[in-house]
Amino acid sequence: MESIWKKTIEEEKTPIPDREKILAGDVHTDAAVIGAGLAGILTAWFLQSQGVKTVVLEAETVGSGQTQNTTAKITSQHGMIYHKLLETFGREKAASYASANQNAVSEYQRIVREQNIPCFFEKRPAYLYTRENGEMGEKLLKEAQAAKSLGLPASFTQNPEEPKDLPFSITGAVRFEEQAQFHPLMFLQALAEKLTIYEHTRVLKAEENCLFTKQGRVFADQIVFAGHYPFLLHPGYYFLRMHQERSYCLALKNKTAPSGMYLGADEDGLSFRGFQNMTILGGGKHRTGENKSGGKYQMLRRKAEEFWPDSCEYAHWSAQDCMTLDGVPYIGRFSAETPNWYVATGFGKWGMTSSMAAARLISNEILGRENEEGEVFSPQRFTPSASAASFLSDGVHAAKDLGRRVFQKPEIPLEELPAGHGGIVEIEGQKAGACRDEDGELYVVSIKCPHMGCQLEWNPDEKSWDCPCHGSRFDYRGRLLDGPAENGVDMPEELC
Ligand code: FES
Repeated sequence: MESIWKKTIEEEKTPIPDREKILAGDVHTDAAVIGAGLAGILTAWFLQSQGVKTVVLEAETVGSGQTQNTTAKITSQHGMIYHKLLETFGREKAASYASANQNAVSEYQRIVREQNIPCFFEKRPAYLYTRENGEMGEKLLKEAQAAKSLGLPASFTQNPEEPKDLPFSITGAVRFEEQAQFHPLMFLQALAEKLTIYEHTRVLKAEENCLFTKQGRVFADQIVFAGHYPFLLHPGYYFLRMHQERSYCLALKNKTAPSGMYLGADEDGLSFRGFQNMTILGGGKHRTGENKSGGKYQMLRRKAEEFWPDSCEYAHWSAQDCMTLDGVPYIGRFSAETPNWYVATGFGKWGMTSSMAAARLISNEILGRENEEGEVFSPQRFTPSASAASFLSDGVHAAKDLGRRVFQKPEIPLEELPAGHGGIVEIEGQKAGACRDEDGELYVVSIKCPHMGCQLEWNPDEKSWDCPCHGSRFDYRGRLLDGPAENGVDMPEELC
């Protein structure tokens, strides 16, 4: 499953630099950034441009994490957030959040222009729409008013003719002007070419000014954790403050790709944007580890058939997002005990502007510059009214998912597991995860998550083992796909 960005960058033969550069021995530098996605590369780029000697450490390759799986909407329109921010954070912090994200759009435009990066950067309006006739229209009106009062280019429309390029009519929408879209990997590669990046170099441990990898140590005055989900349990305790969610996308070749960017505010709302002669259709979100019945791609394919019967599928893929307790990313000092460590995580579904905001805020902090917008993102903030419900819900999930490994019965006898399916089975009195491929070959793995021990669940859409606690994922053979876990899962020891 390759995203539209991965496939098109390969098809267009955009030169991907030969950067098989792996760390070899110890290195000393001013700043080290963990993670070569947008947040990490932008942070390194800002620092390097200001004369701070910076290296990037990446466990896989540049852009191989969530940057390649985004829908790449560069927008400060972040769902139903501004009305809530005003109520829970107050006007000043809500305005900081708004300006940090709207400035991020202009900052992308500036870099694309100044660096002359061919990445299909286009200004587009962003819509948050409803198709319902109930109270959602009222909520969207309030959201538009809240966003506008914070200085954002927002308005509310109930004109069913607007927008014109959706395959259905709407009953109301918030419209944001001055937003944009692009090809994220083309942008990323252009900046990455100018940086020192060690790929296939996973950071295993961090201590004060030192990062440890299998290939050597990196000594740095400043360290930035920009690798999607911090792998350290402490300090910071980010595993207590975030869960992960998945969502699914199709890229469809059709004649009329939408010119705007759209997100449904209703429970089953869909996302749309265009790229050349294609439409990217997204939806089907769920908490990672909670998709036992699957069917997310089929749901999107049914919608595609209904909306554009003549379209054909070019790509399908899925994305994984870190969700914070209060809906605002954690950007800034990693913890009170580590003054030279920084973190950028918890971007929710809004990785493009959040990455840029994080890169600007963290690089400013390292450079000793004023950071007027930083407080709202501080990882050390205390927001009980905005966080309490999510904190309780995440705690209940963790307790339930830990207990499930002990108390839940296997789902299916091993011999009844059909080809092409997976599930939790019993082997010699032990619970294990089993997947039988289309040729009948059986793969058995432990269902104990190596992160903190929760029970993994089968995700039939991805043929992966996913952890409901903090969102680590493993393929059907047990190989690590997504952290915070750092290792894959093997066959249960008792069965080896
Ligand atoms: Fe934390 Fe699985 S990801 S226990």
